[in-house]
Amino acid sequence: MNELSSVAAIGGNGNKVFTNGHSNGVAPEAGRALRGVGVVGLGYWGPNWVRNFQQGQYASRVVACDLDEGRRKHLSQLYSDLETTSRYEDLLSDPDIEGIVVATPVSTHYAMARRALEAGKSVLVEKPLATSSQEAQELIQLALTHKKTLMVGHTFEYSAPVQKMREVIASGELGDVFYVSSVRANLGLFQRDVNVTWDLATHDISIILNLMGGRMPEAVSCQGESHYGNGVEDVAMLTLRFERNIIAFVHVSWLDPDKIRRTTVVGSRKMLVYDDMAPQEKIRIYDKGVTAQKYYDTFGEFQFSYRYGDIKIPRIEEKEPLRNECDHFVNCIRNGTTPDTDGVNGLRVVSVLEAANWSLRRGGLMVPLGSAVR
Ligand SMILES: NC(=O)c1ccc[n+]([C@@H]2O[C@H](COP(=O)([O-])OP(=O)(O)OC[C@H]3O[C@@H](n4cnc5c(N)ncnc54)[C@H](O)[C@@H]3O)[C@@H](O)[C@H]2O)c1
Repeated sequence: MNELSSVAAIGGNGNKVFTNGHSNGVAPEAGRALRGVGVVGLGYWGPNWVRNFQQGQYASRVVACDLDEGRRKHLSQLYSDLETTSRYEDLLSDPDIEGIVVATPVSTHYAMARRALEAGKSVLVEKPLATSSQEAQELIQLALTHKKTLMVGHTFEYSAPVQKMREVIASGELGDVFYVSSVRANLGLFQRDVNVTWDLATHDISIILNLMGGRMPEAVSCQGESHYGNGVEDVAMLTLRFERNIIAFVHVSWLDPDKIRRTTVVGSRKMLVYDDMAPQEKIRIYDKGVTAQKYYDTFGEFQFSYRYGDIKIPRIEEKEPLRNECDHFVNCIRNGTTPDTDGVNGLRVVSVLEAANWSLRRGGLMVPLGSAVR
């Protein structure tokens, strides 16, 4: 299992082995605007980065790059002071550009990020960080060598509902977590270069690892199928097995009639449902549970009692997750601090995806994640 054996050393309890090495540097003045930021990739997602950089006034200059002239023109019409270029080299050689967001297709992430770091730029790579753990490790090492910020765009880790979920689980309100079930389905958006696990399950894995306090699964399996698009799986089901019999299921699909973004956490005391499609009240905590009678003499006496209690809807102050992410990236560059979703965080998600895809090629075999990974 060579593909997996190269996975980086990550501490067993989510401890980060790497740091970005910034702590020895002089912290830049807090709150100062950056001289310039770049965004490469102005397709579906990149424009959200441009909007946040423009509205947040984080940088004196925002330079947006795309090979597609139509996309550059469109963005220029929206923001009169936005500079655009078709050449990534222009961002890399511009001394004002302190940080670059890579929002190009997944298969290009590693090469784009590598070039940014080698050019001495801090970089935020959209999810997933790379397409293999080997690539992810190389980026982490490069960021260390060049003393630059490496951050990955695990957007949901910056969203208020996910932060609230983590808080509720950590408080013990749900009791022991039994399982997590996550569904991310829609009609599309089909990707050409990666399957549905690398596209959609990245979000769920980052959320689940976050809820687990950074703990990695012990084993992963995945089944899926390609109905359109040359062997690129458009539907998949992943199973992540954690210590203490905790299990997580992730169902992702580009072929579903409904847009579903729902995560359920079932605990020994209570159950939580996070529905990201709900316009408000995205989290509900159900005081529901089951008690199995401990002692019984005959099968007829074996029974469960069910508890149907109140439903609590915690108040959540919503702010656009991408704005939080933008704030965090800029502050990490300014202050030389390690991002919450740093290269190691990105590597952990890539390692799970890598194992899942290894399993997928073998009909859903349960793949142990070695202790080096966990
Ligand atoms: N965080 C999130 O919630 C979220 C949501 C959607 C997409 N994404 C991520 O954003 C990234 C982009 O996804 P998308 O759906 O916008 O893709 P897209 O295909 O719509 O857009 C990609 C753009 O990159 C441009 N491009 C490709 N190679 C280039 C190069 N060498 N130089 C300059 N421009 C180049 C293309 O012309 C295109 O306009 C992916 O990594 C995806 O995973 C993240």
